[in-house]
Amino acid sequence: MRRSVATDYMIVDPQNPQPPLINQASRIIQAGGLVAFPTETVYGLGADALNPQAIQAIFMAKGRPMDNPLIVHIADWSSLENLTNLNIEAESKVRLLGERFWPGPLTLVLPRHPQVPLEVTAGLETVAVRWPNHPVAEALIHAAGVPIAAPSANCSGRPSPTDAGHVMEDLAGKIELILDGGMVGVGLESTVLDLTQKIPTILRPGGVTLEQLREVLPEIRVLDVTGMANNNSQATSSLVHPSPGVKYTHYAPAMPLMLVEGEPQAIVSRILKLTTELQTQGTRVGVLTSLENINSYRDAANPPQYLQVMGSRQDLDDIALYLFKSLRECDLADVDVMLVEGFSEEGLGLAIMDRLRRACGGQIIRV
Ligand code: TXA
Ligand code: MG
Repeated sequence: MRRSVATDYMIVDPQNPQPPLINQASRIIQAGGLVAFPTETVYGLGADALNPQAIQAIFMAKGRPMDNPLIVHIADWSSLENLTNLNIEAESKVRLLGERFWPGPLTLVLPRHPQVPLEVTAGLETVAVRWPNHPVAEALIHAAGVPIAAPSANCSGRPSPTDAGHVMEDLAGKIELILDGGMVGVGLESTVLDLTQKIPTILRPGGVTLEQLREVLPEIRVLDVTGMANNNSQATSSLVHPSPGVKYTHYAPAMPLMLVEGEPQAIVSRILKLTTELQTQGTRVGVLTSLENINSYRDAANPPQYLQVMGSRQDLDDIALYLFKSLRECDLADVDVMLVEGFSEEGLGLAIMDRLRRACGGQIIRV
């Protein structure tokens, strides 16, 4: 266990971060400490990416399995040179993608430069790199003068933090500083795209959609994770995994969740039927619903004991933004099980469904 530390908390202007606050945070990074900071996707838990001890401290603070590598965050093009080993072909793909999506929610998996500690990459010869689109993140990286390794700033297995309060819940007493820059903008993590495979492969869908990426590289495919996820936070196998993160249960509230996927009308019917069946057995039922369907549950003969709206089906940006917050709030509901509506996999829907399926740990009903 990492010894407990006093956690400082500072509110920072998300658009024009105050230089004294950023300098204070950067000195902590330079000294090998841990700073949670906002990015446009979710809050990150940052440390000097070139300092192996600081990297180990990240794993300890999060309780993260040691074989799950970290993303290295940069804020200019030249930093790529000291982190990656690119041939001409890879370099042109990185340029094409970077010019369109950086700064932004796209992480590229690339061949590792020997200077990148193996602690960061969990022993892999590849390194994941991202340029976040957030003034606080960019200012911190510039001020620290080093690339910043940062996983999401949650305890391993918990929903990712979309505001500083979530970081406090999980990491107070374990890290030196939390920079509170308010609510994030996307709400889901970056898309992780592996450019070291013959066919560029999405290892984790996220803030940049498959459709957007295919406008730049039409051949991109999505890693099929069927059968790779596991219910208990243990690795499924010791074999090398193309996307180490997908071996573990993620985003799971303590509350049991059951996901119902299909057409919206069929979803509502099945959830109402399940609600009745479960309530007959004395089980208290909650439903995580879209705005469009709330009245169908409210007005039902046997309404669920608890209803929580994630956002409108017409606005997947909104669903993405509130998804992790909703999952955290599930634990506050006085129910025994939470039934969750699924969404279409278009656009951001692919990432939303990826997170929901993992949060449910395999409890999925398709209608
Ligand atoms: O939006 C984000 O990506 C946020 C913010 C803070 O930048 N970060 C984030 O980090 O989500 P984390 O550690 O929670 O997720 C990183 C994912 C994991 O699934 C990990 O396995 C994968 O990226 N990853 C990192 N390095 C990799 C590598 N070399 N090869 C394959 N996958 C890698
Ligand atoms: Mg994470």
